[in-house]
Amino acid sequence: MTIRNSSYLNRTLAPEMRLLASLVLSLGTIASAHYIFPSLVANGVATSEWTNVRRTNNYYSREPVTNVKSIDFRCYTSEAGATASTIDVAAGSQLGIQANGPMYHAGVVNVYMAKAPGDVSTWDGSGNVWFKKSSSGTPDFRFYRWRKIHHLPCIEHSITFTVPKSLPSGQYLVRMESIALHDSAFVGGAQFYIACGQINVTGGGSGSPGPLVAIPGVYSGTEPGILIDIYYPIPTTYVQPGPVVWR
Ligand SMILES: *[C@@H]1O[C@H](CO)[C@@H](O)[C@H](O)[C@H]1NC(C)=O
Repeated sequence: MTIRNSSYLNRTLAPEMRLLASLVLSLGTIASAHYIFPSLVANGVATSEWTNVRRTNNYYSREPVTNVKSIDFRCYTSEAGATASTIDVAAGSQLGIQANGPMYHAGVVNVYMAKAPGDVSTWDGSGNVWFKKSSSGTPDFRFYRWRKIHHLPCIEHSITFTVPKSLPSGQYLVRMESIALHDSAFVGGAQFYIACGQINVTGGGSGSPGPLVAIPGVYSGTEPGILIDIYYPIPTTYVQPGPVVWR
């Protein structure tokens, strides 16, 4: 009985404790709201900020992109026109994209990649060239039921995925897309945190990634994964916008 009681308490208290932690976190992060993705994690090591990731317009403001049709929806570099150094990454190895702090907004993540026709550092990523590499799963939206609290307490600073063994060798843009859904019940309300890294895939294979899409162009902004009320009723399923993940 005692064991059952204590596990019952754990189950019932855990979300409240998380919400409390969330509130503390949100108070602490108001001054530096939102986030950026200045680093890759390649060969187990985080790269220094804006070295292998193109410096985004919001490197200081941390502001999101909200217009899915703007050119900044691709790599968010229109102001500085920044490029970066390209880092070698072996096919089959782990690659991470790292934020400057916790990715605390309610939401999901997609990673897109595009193979440059030549030198990636001078390539803008235009055309139907992007495939979806990874998608996060359905978030547990129950934690966000009180509108004022839209921050997750136990959140990741980075996402990690495998560079496919069959991905052809060559230079790629790797695009991080973190979609924040805490205020997305109207068109243009979803917030997109975006950054593009430059990698040189070595020892790759002969796969043909697809389907290929253009960015911007891939989203209309009214997909059920972008135009969504996460508070009422609380969604129990979630459909990522855009193409299927390449397998
Ligand atoms: C990419 O990797 C290949 C194979 O190691 C190498 O020959 C080439 O110089 C690299 N390119 C860049 C831009 O790093």
